[in-house]
Amino acid sequence: MEKHFWPLVCPVCEAALTRIDNMLKCVQLHSFDMATKGYVNLSLGNRQTHRLCGDAREMLAARKTFLGQGFYQPLSDALNMQVYQRFLELARHKVKPGLTCIAEVGCGEGYYLGRLKDYLDRRLGTERMCYFGMDIAKEAVRLAARQHNDIFFFVADVKRKILFSKGSVRILLNIFSPRNAVEFDRVLASEGLLFVVIPNPDHLTSLRSEFGLLAIEANKRQHIVEQLSGVFRLAKQQSIKYDLYLNGKELSDLIRMTPNYWHLPSETWSSLEAREDIRTSASFTILEFKRHAVQAIRRTTRARAREARG
Ligand SMILES: C[S@@+](CC[C@H](N)C(=O)[O-])C[C@H]1O[C@@H](n2cnc3c(N)ncnc32)[C@H](O)[C@@H]1O
Ligand SMILES: [Zn+2]
Repeated sequence: MEKHFWPLVCPVCEAALTRIDNMLKCVQLHSFDMATKGYVNLSLGNRQTHRLCGDAREMLAARKTFLGQGFYQPLSDALNMQVYQRFLELARHKVKPGLTCIAEVGCGEGYYLGRLKDYLDRRLGTERMCYFGMDIAKEAVRLAARQHNDIFFFVADVKRKILFSKGSVRILLNIFSPRNAVEFDRVLASEGLLFVVIPNPDHLTSLRSEFGLLAIEANKRQHIVEQLSGVFRLAKQQSIKYDLYLNGKELSDLIRMTPNYWHLPSETWSSLEAREDIRTSASFTILEFKRHAVQAIRRTTRARAREARG
């Protein structure tokens, strides 16, 4: 990561943050300590908000175990290839991307971002690339920082401010996490891309009625396209569907890592764990958004004018 490139802003006054040793500081001297593991808490919310919004420790542990066994690797691989494809297109058009900041909001313990970084490092190198992950759950950020060395993680609330400076993110990932269209617009560069990953209505469908799992909104895809439509247009979508074969423990981890964790009665957990040889299907869609063309041109023109003014 370039020494001088630090795209985060202060959660108090929104001035740029500078990194000085193990501290992030703004001009007004608001300062935030970095943990030894390289993450920082930029959240101003109270503990109550965090308890209500972020994932619980048990959910994070279940997700780490489940994802670590590779059950969602086909999704991660498809996402990696789709993102890489965009770099190949730039190369075909002989465009050399400048410093590229890739960020995930609601990153959990960083499984997808970590795999994307490994994938791109092998193909594009590490120079002029930087990676950031943000989540409201401090424990998620702590776990993520412990596992991924060259990614900077921070605690913040996507519903408030994403805390990147304006236009500083080139690729923004939002995977099974809350969204904020206004903030996505603010932080993404003019030519930036937004990748949103959602479960399809038939994801784990065979398990939903049996265990009383929360339903997936039937019009989720359409709802998101509409929610983002003021700023972004859907440029591409890719569906991924495959069978999952699980034992009781794997099934219980899978359910525990989702919001079902908060809703299922205790007897359901024992029946989940007692099941064997479960077959169900995973079904996701990767939605890739670009800015509307006119908007992108206006933003680029404004950015160039600013550069010319120095
Ligand atoms: C279903 S998990 C997905 C995590 C990760 N993207 C993955 O797929 O492995 C949703 C994540 O969003 C985070 N989250 C929930 N509300 C949030 C908010 N308001 N701001 C930032 N992150 C939030 C949770 O703490 C959790 O880590
Ligand atoms: Zn400040």
